[in-house]
Amino acid sequence: MVRMVDVIEKKRNGEVLTKAEIELFVNGYTDGTIPDYQASAILMAVYFKGMNAEEQAHLTMAMVESGEQIDLSAIEGVKVDKHSTGGVGDTTTLILVPLVAACGVPVAKMSGRGLGHTGGTLDKLEAMKGFHIELTKEQFVQQVNDLKLAVIGQSGNLTPADQKIYALRDVTATVDSIPLIASSIMSKKIAAGADAIVLDVKSGDGAFMKTLEDSKALAQAMVAIGNEVGRNTMAIISDMSQPLGNAIGNALEVQEAIETLQGKGPEDLTELCLTLGSQMVVLGGKAESLEEARKMLKEVIQNGKALQLFGDLIEAQGGDRTVIEDPSLLPSAQYQIPVVASQSGYVTKMEADDIGIAAMLLGAGRATKEDKIDLAVGIVLNKKVGDYVEKGETLAILHANSEEVTQSTELLLQHIHIEDELVTPPPLIGEIITK
Ligand code: URA
Ligand code: CA
Repeated sequence: MVRMVDVIEKKRNGEVLTKAEIELFVNGYTDGTIPDYQASAILMAVYFKGMNAEEQAHLTMAMVESGEQIDLSAIEGVKVDKHSTGGVGDTTTLILVPLVAACGVPVAKMSGRGLGHTGGTLDKLEAMKGFHIELTKEQFVQQVNDLKLAVIGQSGNLTPADQKIYALRDVTATVDSIPLIASSIMSKKIAAGADAIVLDVKSGDGAFMKTLEDSKALAQAMVAIGNEVGRNTMAIISDMSQPLGNAIGNALEVQEAIETLQGKGPEDLTELCLTLGSQMVVLGGKAESLEEARKMLKEVIQNGKALQLFGDLIEAQGGDRTVIEDPSLLPSAQYQIPVVASQSGYVTKMEADDIGIAAMLLGAGRATKEDKIDLAVGIVLNKKVGDYVEKGETLAILHANSEEVTQSTELLLQHIHIEDELVTPPPLIGEIITK
């Protein structure tokens, strides 16, 4: 019989673990027969010695199999999921769900809530009065079959092994290990029923991975896992050194999503949605090439089909669909307070994480899981990196429910850099990683 101590020793010595050895750890830790100290030791050994693609695939599947798996086989077609590693003002999911559904790809989306300086899709959707994210599995499947799209919160007992291991990693300095992050993220996507996965790996100040090199390594690891376990998977590296789009905050981002679906959205957000959406439409088998897919996406924006589907989604899940014509139905903040430039020059840097924190301090995000958020508040950026600004000109508008906004104002002034020389911003789409 294999003992856990032998598995730890093997990994400590840099050897490759077998499927059975990885399952011994995952299953034993989940059911409580392997104690925290042995689990901590193996995690630290993985941190230092790494895991090859096959080991990561075994780890992923062991975590998938530790709990419930959503069966989407009653939905016709290829179920393509998209995952973003998290950013500031990342409104893409709200836009992509109706956008790719309008091209015929069924979207059965399970989303999460925001934490820290990053926002969550569920919170944004709930900014629309009446919108509810609790559907039974039968309702979820039925709605996707009827309308092509549904968004729900995580329910049931998905990947309990990941939850337990993640909590242990958090207190043993083993979170930032690429094999552990990659298997953690992929296990959740696979348990949620995805046939194919498009990953948006963010890179920069506002992201989990601060450098292009790390983002690329994480993307490659996740793409390798997905393809190893039979899920067509690809990744895009996208810039998160500045916030995406102009709006940061729940209702503000819903409004931005509506504008983007009307073809009037910010350039960077629109471009990222077209890039990710094209990949989803191709993986979903609805277009032969990325060019064809992009044409289809632009068409459903132009002819209003994508926006109408967003309306269908809102209506089906209890909200008022007229918000797509009248965004003034969204909650709005009591005060709109401009933050003005203290000097003239070019905006050279807008540190996304600090701007995210400024929005969180206004009440748009949670510092801890228990915090309540204010759906109306947030920040709308008037300038982005590369823009010229005059002294006294508005950089951003704070949407607040309190007149006391000193902390957020100071954060913005400190982290929006204005200099004499123009800089070239990092490219929005860094690289595309396929198997
Ligand atoms: N997000 C996850 O879901 N898992 C990790 O390990 C890190 C970030
Ligand atoms: Ca945004």
